[in-house]
Amino acid sequence: MALCDDVDATARRIGAVNTVTLEGGRLLGANTDWIGAVRALERATQLRDREAVVLGAGGAARAVVFGLIERGARVRILNRRPERAKALAEQLGAHGAGALDELASGPCEVLVNTTSVGLREDASPVAAGAIPPNAVVLDAVYDPPETRLLRDAAARGARTVGGKWWLVHQAAEQLRLWTGRDAPLDVMAAAFDRAAP
Ligand SMILES: NC(=O)c1ccc[n+]([C@@H]2O[C@H](COP(=O)([O-])OP(=O)(O)OC[C@H]3O[C@@H](n4cnc5c(N)ncnc54)[C@H](OP(=O)(O)O)[C@@H]3O)[C@@H](O)[C@H]2O)c1
Repeated sequence: MALCDDVDATARRIGAVNTVTLEGGRLLGANTDWIGAVRALERATQLRDREAVVLGAGGAARAVVFGLIERGARVRILNRRPERAKALAEQLGAHGAGALDELASGPCEVLVNTTSVGLREDASPVAAGAIPPNAVVLDAVYDPPETRLLRDAAARGARTVGGKWWLVHQAAEQLRLWTGRDAPLDVMAAAFDRAAP
């Protein structure tokens, strides 16, 4: 953000930039992660009035918490360092905050992992038994495409959405910002499948 000449209002509110466009020699910062995460979730569920839990309190969490609140969900943020979750909840207007082991202590219809746990490792940020069987679970981690969290969630009966869809939807929005044209989601998803390990 500090290196941009200007940052759009949404990215400023989120507090994170993942896309830079060049307009008239000026670097403009935007954030497509929030809409990418929301569209990935909306492949499986509507979000209005849903009880959502976001694991993590870094840059990806900031975007998805903003997006969930924008769509009318109630959000609880759980993080390894709960004080970061509390600060983010206060800043973005989430309803609750706590530590990762508090997942089962409250309602959860939509679960989003934004921690880096599971990235190129067979590990999950939460115990399998804490995942509600009726939840929709999205993992930001897309390498591997099927993470331990998603396997655990599916085994519990939950619906899962892979990080591929977050990646593809946010990238499609980036292409729209850069070119003004709609991106072919199916072509991008197929390219991901070819490149995935
Ligand atoms: N699919 C997509 O399009 C997409 C988009 C954005 C991000 N991502 C992925 O999302 C992940 C997070 O990205 P980010 O930019 O938000 O990273 P970040 O700002 O560095 O935040 C990392 C988060 O992970 C937590 N964490 C790290 N190691 C942990 C561990 N061993 N146990 C528990 N929690 C741990 C951190 O907790 P503390 O606060 O306690 O340190 C923090 O909440 C990455 O894997 C990234 O690739 C995917």
